Amino acid sequence: MSEYILEMRGITKEFPGVRALDNVNFKVKRGEIHCLVGENGAGKSTLMKVLSGVYKFGSYSGDIVYNGQVQQFQSTKDSEHAGIAIISQELALIPELTVYENIFFGHEVMHGKTINWNETIVKAGEMLKKVRLSVNPSRKIRELGVGQQQLVEIAKALSKNAKLLILDEPTASLNEDDSQNLLQLLRELQKDGVTSIMISHRLKEVVTIADTITVLRDGATICSMEATGGKVAESEIIKYMVGREIDNVYPKREYIAPGEVALELRNWTVFDPKQERVILDHVNIQLRKGEVVGLSGLMGAGRTELALSVFGNTPKYKLLEGEIFVEGKKVAFKTPRDATKAGLAYVSEDRKHNGLILIQDVKFNVTVANLEKLLEGNVINENEEIVQVNSYKDSLNIKTPSIKQLVGNLSGGNQQKVQIAKWLFAEPKVLILDEPTRGIDVGAKFEIYTIINRLVREGYAVLMISSDLPEILGMSDRIYVMAEGTITGEISAAEANEQNIMAMATKTEEA
Ligand SMILES: Nc1ncnc2c1ncn2[C@@H]1O[C@H](COP(=O)(O)OP(=O)(O)OP(=O)(O)O)[C@@H](O)[C@H]1O
Ligand SMILES: [Mg+2]
Repeated sequence: MSEYILEMRGITKEFPGVRALDNVNFKVKRGEIHCLVGENGAGKSTLMKVLSGVYKFGSYSGDIVYNGQVQQFQSTKDSEHAGIAIISQELALIPELTVYENIFFGHEVMHGKTINWNETIVKAGEMLKKVRLSVNPSRKIRELGVGQQQLVEIAKALSKNAKLLILDEPTASLNEDDSQNLLQLLRELQKDGVTSIMISHRLKEVVTIADTITVLRDGATICSMEATGGKVAESEIIKYMVGREIDNVYPKREYIAPGEVALELRNWTVFDPKQERVILDHVNIQLRKGEVVGLSGLMGAGRTELALSVFGNTPKYKLLEGEIFVEGKKVAFKTPRDATKAGLAYVSEDRKHNGLILIQDVKFNVTVANLEKLLEGNVINENEEIVQVNSYKDSLNIKTPSIKQLVGNLSGGNQQKVQIAKWLFAEPKVLILDEPTRGIDVGAKFEIYTIINRLVREGYAVLMISSDLPEILGMSDRIYVMAEGTITGEISAAEANEQNIMAMATKTEEA
């Protein structure tokens, strides 16, 4: 048996106007954890879709040699049959179905011609044990957190007897604990002989877990490095990824004295009718013009709920008590549109379900929230629209053949950039960014931070929700910490460190 379980040779894949992969070579050793890294739009997801038959044989050129044989997958069913399972960037579980239905969806446990549900539930339980997830298999997917859903996806892959597991940014939306948990699981599966390919922008976890790291850039393989035991440094990966060195990830911002209060919440108390509980309890916060305020906390602390409820997401959130002031004036928002009109913008953490219209092009998505800005009399100035959208494309370095490309065809990170461009175009006074750099490569992160700095210099107030503590510390002037729906602390950037923020987030006394 060859040392390599997989060899992809000379893979080229084109879409109209884009050569996503250009003669890529990619080799994976049997039983290793292989990390695939590269900038947004480098071609990582595309390469994995070619491998797993999402793009079928004939739609690309080059060879996939798996277990010594050239494969001609027509669909993911074929690759699954061969022992390859892909967990894609956007989770593919069905929220309204139960855990066990999801695990065996598409490969049901049959008894003659009918599905054997008892057996299904028992087997689902075994798979959940393998991934160390202790939830009742009869729970609905929508009731689980993202970390748990991710584990269900892996359980599903294992139930198909996967020998080669592909994970496309599995930890992107997980908190620290869930991420560690998942990486540990990959190590355990490795002991059982499962080979994993993992795509990630979190270089810290890449260097700790990878046996081999392959870097893609502009659809080509740049290098493949042996990395077992943390042999490769993050800075080295960055150099190969972006083709230059970045020494300070957080660009310096000159100090400006904060201006007047742009947004204030008083006693903000919100009830969730669906879960029948109070999710935000007497929250008091202030944002001043010229400030970046970080909002830290663990998953489930209520940070996103705070943003969404402020943004007028009734009936999902029922306001029990509380007031909003924008520039000192008391306001009330019935809908997100009201909030936008009053000068608020919210860049969602979940780009698939909020914010972007995937079947429309880049141009449409960027300008749709503020078309008034392009009006000349009663008509839209289309030339001006093209100029403006192109300028965002350049300044944010959005990788797309043109602004006429459908957003659904962009890579995950580039979709996120379009979302940011959309809200910049809306010219808000207050910009609420929810996990703004999730799934964004290091080079583009730097660009986004630079833009945030420019915005506050111009007088914007920015509230940045982030689970990435170094990002919170590197970017904020002031930090609020939340736990269980309340603000548990407020601290200036100068006094903040990872320890005291974590202590507030977990409501523990600092040692
Ligand atoms: N269905 C499609 N139609 C047109 N272009 C596409 C399609 N899918 C991907 N592309 C383009 O191919 C290139 C590679 O995209 P891919 O999704 O593989 O990037 P990626 O490395 O996974 O990036 P990210 O880190 O942002 O997820 C990008 O320029 C993207 O716009
Ligand atoms: Mg991708």
